[in-house]
Amino acid sequence: MAPLKKLFHTSLLLLVCAAKAANPEAEAEALLRWKSTLVGANSLSSWSTANSTCSWFGVACDAAGHVTELSLPNAGLNGTLDYLYSAALRNLTKIKLNKNILAGAIPANISMLLTLAFLDLGSNSLVGSIPRSFSRLQNLKALRLSANNLTGGIPEELGMISGLGNLVLYGNPLGGSIPASLGQLQLLHMLHIQNASLVSTLPPELGNLTSLKYMILSQNQLYGSLPPSFARIQTLLFFHMHGNNINGSIPSEMFTNCTKLERFIVYGNLLTGSISSHIIKCKELEFFDGSGNLLTGSIPREIGSMRNLQALFLWENHLTGIMPSDIGNATSLKFLDVSSNHLEGELPRTISLLVNLVALSLSGNKFTGTIPNPDSKQLPVVKIANGKDNGSFSGESRSAICGLTLLQLLDLSNNELFGDFLVASGI
Ligand SMILES: *[C@@H]1O[C@H](CO)[C@@H](O)[C@H](O)[C@H]1NC(C)=O
Ligand SMILES: *[C@@H]1O[C@H](CO)[C@@H](O)[C@H](O)[C@H]1NC(C)=O
Ligand SMILES: *[C@@H]1O[C@H](CO)[C@@H](O)[C@H](O)[C@H]1NC(C)=O
Ligand SMILES: *[C@@H]1O[C@H](CO)[C@@H](O)[C@H](O)[C@H]1NC(C)=O
Ligand SMILES: *[C@@H]1O[C@H](CO)[C@@H](O)[C@H](O)[C@H]1NC(C)=O
Ligand SMILES: *[C@@H]1O[C@H](CO)[C@@H](O)[C@H](O)[C@H]1NC(C)=O
Ligand SMILES: *[C@@H]1O[C@H](CO)[C@@H](O)[C@H](O)[C@H]1NC(C)=O
Ligand SMILES: *[C@@H]1O[C@H](CO)[C@@H](O)[C@H](O)[C@H]1NC(C)=O
Ligand SMILES: *[C@@H]1O[C@H](CO)[C@@H](O)[C@H](O)[C@H]1NC(C)=O
Ligand SMILES: *[C@@H]1O[C@H](CO)[C@@H](O)[C@H](O)[C@H]1NC(C)=O
Ligand SMILES: *[C@@H]1O[C@H](CO)[C@@H](O)[C@H](O)[C@H]1NC(C)=O
Repeated sequence: MAPLKKLFHTSLLLLVCAAKAANPEAEAEALLRWKSTLVGANSLSSWSTANSTCSWFGVACDAAGHVTELSLPNAGLNGTLDYLYSAALRNLTKIKLNKNILAGAIPANISMLLTLAFLDLGSNSLVGSIPRSFSRLQNLKALRLSANNLTGGIPEELGMISGLGNLVLYGNPLGGSIPASLGQLQLLHMLHIQNASLVSTLPPELGNLTSLKYMILSQNQLYGSLPPSFARIQTLLFFHMHGNNINGSIPSEMFTNCTKLERFIVYGNLLTGSISSHIIKCKELEFFDGSGNLLTGSIPREIGSMRNLQALFLWENHLTGIMPSDIGNATSLKFLDVSSNHLEGELPRTISLLVNLVALSLSGNKFTGTIPNPDSKQLPVVKIANGKDNGSFSGESRSAICGLTLLQLLDLSNNELFGDFLVASGI
């Protein structure tokens, strides 16, 4: 072999060796260094130079032997993230360290792991703020930091992570407001920031989240009104906004494009106005909870054509008028609670068509007349809850009440209803 050619081959071999050996070693070293800072770390016993790095518990590699995933949920890891970052971990795409005992702050240098697509540090004891430099993680698809002790608000820079699909920050005392910049996240499908001490209005820009399926912002101190721009989110499945201070009326626009909406949960706010009859357009709606607000007007008769509706909770509002007879068409209903309103009149006979009802609560209204008993169907066992006993069961009756064959909880107290049924139950 000619000397030059031999030299070429030798150096090629050296290069290959360098690429194959040196990097994985540096990766192993980096991980072992972090391990050495953890207390106990019994779950990481396979992490030793005796074992190949790619066989270590919770470690996954690519074909070239580079560490791509660190997946150690619920592994009893006790320590900090301070020594996790290393330039050697340049192929890491996934860090899943949720449900451990990790404390301290989230080091800003995690944002130098530019290949990261998935970062889950949820359910630890992390403190401090969310690093603004996370905006550098342009490959990030999921950021999950829920159930920690993070403060300092939601960095508006998170709105720059253009491929983000999951932003899950619930259960942290974050405080501050919802940055309007989050409305730029075109691919976001999960925005879950429940119980995060947010004191904020709802930015109309969130209406630009046209891939959003889950908007969960309940149990904060959100105020102001529901932006009509939210109507643009036609992909929405869950709208959870309960336990805030939101006022104004529910914009009827919100129900104009709600073709996918399954859950609309706004209980415990300061909402006024009436429930728009546009609700009929939410054909997939299963769960509507507007309880504990200041809603007025009547129960829209259109509710009756909502074939998928399983739960309708409207207790503690200022609703007036009658129970529309169309309610009998909503035959999927399992839970119907309109207690503590100003409803009146006789109950429609059609209520007997709601054969899937499990709980019916009509107490604290001004319903009158007799319990409809159209076809004398026998009930197997009906338990009766008396509102005065806080819903404890106070009797059983085989008396016929409509066709409500599966009814387990019936609360009719504080009305002016009469009938055999009530006599039998001792209310
Ligand atoms: C790898 O680690 C496991 C667990 O600590 C150990 O039982 C096993 O012997 C190691 N394998 C090698 C090849 O060293
Ligand atoms: C975590 O380690 C610290 C010592 O650094 C210790 O005080 C603490 O009890 C450990 N926590 C658990 C849950 O083991
Ligand atoms: C990463 O940040 C932490 C916390 O600031 C620091 O302790 C650590 O030395 C940093 N690591 C590197 C490799 O710079
Ligand atoms: C690992 O990362 C390096 C540096 O970013 C890159 O050149 C290489 O292609 C990556 N390897 C794989 C298999 O992605
Ligand atoms: C959260 O951190 C604060 C101090 O910043 C501390 O007082 C509090 O006990 C921590 N809460 C939890 C649940 O760790
Ligand atoms: C709300 O989040 C805090 C942490 O900020 C947590 O301690 C508390 O249990 C959470 N409350 C609920 C009802 O989930
Ligand atoms: C986002 O929404 C706001 C308010 O609804 C609007 O003014 C703005 O033009 C929208 N931006 C984009 C990029 O669509
Ligand atoms: C509902 O969707 C249609 C068609 O995509 C759109 O033109 C209309 O503006 C939307 N309505 C609202 C209130 O956003
Ligand atoms: C809603 O509350 C805000 C203050 O939080 C107030 O300025 C506004 O007038 C209220 N709007 C309505 C419709 O009550
Ligand atoms: C309920 O069903 C009855 C009888 O089929 C029908 O006349 C009525 O229009 C329906 N109501 C609604 C709101 O769909
Ligand atoms: C019944 O409810 C009232 C008011 O909500 C409460 O004060 C009382 O403690 C409850 N009683 C029982 C037995 O739960």
